[in-house]
Amino acid sequence: MYHNAGSSAARQAVPATGSALVTSQAQNEALRTSVRGAYSAIAASPAAEHPIPVGRQLALGVGYPAERLARMPAVAVDAFAGVGAVSIFAQLPPGSRVLDLGCGAGLDSLIAAERVGAEGRVIGVDFSESMLARASEAAAEAGVGNLRLCLADSERLPLRNSSIDVALVNGIFNLNPRRQLLFQELGRVVREGGAVYAAELILREALSDAERGDEANWFA
Ligand SMILES: C[S@@+](CC[C@H](N)C(=O)[O-])C[C@H]1O[C@@H](n2cnc3c(N)ncnc32)[C@H](O)[C@@H]1O
Repeated sequence: MYHNAGSSAARQAVPATGSALVTSQAQNEALRTSVRGAYSAIAASPAAEHPIPVGRQLALGVGYPAERLARMPAVAVDAFAGVGAVSIFAQLPPGSRVLDLGCGAGLDSLIAAERVGAEGRVIGVDFSESMLARASEAAAEAGVGNLRLCLADSERLPLRNSSIDVALVNGIFNLNPRRQLLFQELGRVVREGGAVYAAELILREALSDAERGDEANWFA
């Protein structure tokens, strides 16, 4: 968890997340297209073969309680593609304004919407239309009235400064070579004293050049 200390220094601070990533604009765009395609394919057909594990077994494996998953719409659980049970371990006081960054099919958004109650608000942001279509279907099925879903880039959030109490981030930093922009946006939209809860894949050792150059390693 990261608390937003509010100072300009803290707002611009970028956690040390490994070696500097130097990628060209063209590489960034190609990678974005590839990442969006990979997650859109998961949304379109979660039961098909994918480069990453997906769905209910994954969600159980990373710590979502079985009884909670049983109450959630299958359309969200089946396409779950996160790396930790962020909406379970986060502190989400009733009435909080929550951002789910890279919300995918919406499992964390739905759980957060339930936890913050009718006085709270959740906004789920993703750049995959197919993932958001699933999340909207799930929200309609669950009958939640405090969840808004938004097609947008995490690097340019359509949110006002300091408008968020708690941000949830479930496996998106590793997908973006320009992740510094994500930290900056989080620093901008999360209010002073607010919190960011993130689950992320980490490397135990450095990748070889060949592994680093393999596009699949960006989202696998
Ligand atoms: C690892 S998945 C996690 C999805 C969801 N949080 C979950 O737990 O199932 C990452 C999600 O972030 C989205 N994403 C990746 N990069 C993004 C970006 N730059 N802007 C917006 N969404 C992004 C992908 O479309 C995908 O749905």
